[in-house]
Order: sequence, then structure tokens, then C-alpha cells
Amino acid sequence: MGLRTADRAVSITYESVRWLVDSTGRDYLERNAMTAEQKASMRRLGRTDIEIMPIGLGVMQFSGGGKGIMGRMFRNLTTEEKNAIVGAALEGGINWFDTAELYGAGHSEKGLSIALKAAQAEDNEVVVGTKWFPILRAAGNIPKTIDERIRYLNGYTIDLYMVHQPWGFSSPEAEMAAMADLVEAGKIRSVGVSNFSAKGMRRAHKALQERGLPLAVNQVHYSLIHREIETNGVLETAKELGITIIAYTPLAYGLLTGKYHKAPELLRQAMLFRRLMIRRNLERSRPVVRALEEIASRYEVTPGQVALNWLVNFHGTSIVAIPGASKVEHAQQSSGAMDFALSEEELSKLDEVTREFR
Ligand SMILES: NC(=O)c1ccc[n+]([C@@H]2O[C@H](COP(=O)([O-])OP(=O)(O)OC[C@H]3O[C@@H](n4cnc5c(N)ncnc54)[C@H](OP(=O)(O)O)[C@@H]3O)[C@@H](O)[C@H]2O)c1
Repeated sequence: MGLRTADRAVSITYESVRWLVDSTGRDYLERNAMTAEQKASMRRLGRTDIEIMPIGLGVMQFSGGGKGIMGRMFRNLTTEEKNAIVGAALEGGINWFDTAELYGAGHSEKGLSIALKAAQAEDNEVVVGTKWFPILRAAGNIPKTIDERIRYLNGYTIDLYMVHQPWGFSSPEAEMAAMADLVEAGKIRSVGVSNFSAKGMRRAHKALQERGLPLAVNQVHYSLIHREIETNGVLETAKELGITIIAYTPLAYGLLTGKYHKAPELLRQAMLFRRLMIRRNLERSRPVVRALEEIASRYEVTPGQVALNWLVNFHGTSIVAIPGASKVEHAQQSSGAMDFALSEEELSKLDEVTREFR
């Protein structure tokens, strides 16, 4: 188990990471692991003492080759590929990772811990979030499956444990009681939910509050072309209760990078479900990508980086994002999305061109 306080995030100082020397002999500092600006932009995970960068890395893409539907949906990345993706994320200053039991029945969790070890990341230098899958299960399953999560994460503390969906057999109250037991047993550090409505969040928040714990996050679908949380009460409730919103699918499956507008033939390589979603939004999102491209050219960054930057800044510090990556350059670009600041005018312009997606 690693550091338990905000000190652990702050402890990622130049001095404390100097020992990390890569194969070319360059140390972590030289590799620009975390700039002073990046350190200053750390955010608290809800009302916990856990600190994270505005952008983390989603590793659902590490499901391929694992069991279940997710294991078949994703390309089977090699260990070297996964290690390189995680290494690139860490080098770019990303300090947290999102995985789940569902992602290949632990395959993604295993791949993540192997990659973190390969990068010589200490438990107290990274924040790891994973999720319990509630479908066709009751809250009693939470304590039964936690040791498997811990085993797969192999020494990396579960800093955040989320209920993946609101559609389990048990009530949010029963699920939160089981989660609170895990915190008290020292098996997880904080509790979150995912895909919960405003009402569900309130119930989970209240149940945890009765145990003296905060509801740290609600992880939900949010991107420039998927802005429903701004109108269905989820974002408003999160702000009111001090719950961090973690935006998943923040690049709209890669659509907001502009790659499918430039080369629609790439769609043939996308997984069936993603292909359908991307095709459905291809024309509608064209003006959005145009606006992203125009702003990106001013900063010499990519449209996807502008999309991520908007996402984690437009609503102050309420929203953080977990773009996924199947290639090293994806992780490099995602981390680089934290290295520039959009003007108020640019933030508003992107708000205007995507209002119809609210
Ligand atoms: N809680 C939930 O219910 C839930 C649901 C979905 C996702 N998530 C989490 O959110 C994470 C991200 O979501 P997501 O993967 O659905 O969507 P996403 O982050 O919007 O899209 C990721 C995909 O976009 C493409 N991409 C990323 N960076 C790129 C770049 N710089 N240039 C070109 N293409 C790029 C890649 O596609 P290709 O691989 O096709 O090249 C990558 O796999 C997941 O890993 C997972 O951790 C959670």
C-alpha cells in the first residue's frame, strides 16, 4: 500500500523521481515527467485527498485477448505495446489510470499493472481506478470479488473503486454499504459510481455520507458531441455535492481527432459498435472538427488535443477525462492536451458550435 494522503501526489517531485533512468540513460526529469505547471494543475478527486491530473488514461483498450465480450471486441495488444502506451502516458505527466473488471475479466487490470511495473512506477506515484460490474449481481458480490481485483493489480492500490452501472440487483444504498466496508477494511481508498443519474448519485452520496465517506466520482459519457450531462442534472448535482465527473469516451471514439473526416476509409478498421457510432455522427460533427482544427493550428496541436483541453477546462475543475489509447502516439497526444491553455473566447466558441449536442 502506498501513501494515503495528498502528499503522495505532491511527492512526485523532480527529486523523488530522479532515480528513474530509462534505457538511454536519461532520467525522469530529462524525460519531462511532470512540469511545474502540470503539478500546479493537479485536481482533487471529489472531496477525497487523492490528487490527479486533469487527464488520465483509460485502458479499456487493454481488454483484447481477455475473457467475455470485451475481450473479443478489442484488438489483442502485445505486452510491449501496452507497456509502451502506459510508459508514454507517464512520461507525458499522466498520473492516473482507469480500468475495470469488465475489461476482459481482469485482463486490462493485469496489463495495466504489468505496464506500470515495467515503467518502474511506484504505487504511491500513480492513482488507479477500477470498477465492479453489477449486472446480474447483488451487492454481496462486491466483497467476494475484491481480492481478485487486488491480485490483478498486483501491488497497485485501488485508489478509486466504482460501481460500473446502475443496473445491478441491489439498491445503491446496499452497494455503497459494501463499498464503505471495503474502505474500512483498507482494501480501497475511495468510492465512485459510473453511468448514474442525478437521482442515483444523490442516493449513493447520502448512503456514503452516513458512513462518513464522500462519493468521489461519477464516471459518465461526455464529449463535445455528447453533452447530455449538462442538461440532465448530472453535472449540476456533481457540482453541488463536490463529486468529480470523469468523462469517458471524451474523443467520441476518435471522431474528434478528425481522422475519420480526413480518411473515412479508416472506418473499415473500427470495431462494429464504434463504426456505427462514428458513422452516425460523422456529418453532424464536421463543423465541430473544423472549429477544432482552426483552434489547433494556433497552438500547433491537434484537434483531439483541443477537444480534450476544452473538456477539462470549460466547467472549471469539475470534469476530468480518460481518453483511451491503442497506440503510443495516442497517449502522447492525450497527455500533451494539458500543456496549453485555450482562451475564454475559444472555450466559448466550442461551446457554441456544440450546443445542439446538449
Ligand atoms: N464507465 C463506462 O461505462 C465506460 C464506457 C466507455 C469507456 N470507458 C473508459 O473511458 C476510456 C476512453 O473511452 P473510449 O475508448 O470509449 O473513447 P475515446 O477515448 O473517445 O476513444 C479512444 C479511441 O480514440 C482513438 N484515439 C485516441 N487518441 C487518438 C489520437 N491522438 N489520434 C487518433 N485517434 C486517437 C483510438 O481509436 P483506435 O484504437 O480505433 O485507433 C482510441 O482507441 C476507456 O478506455 C475506458 O477506460 C468507461
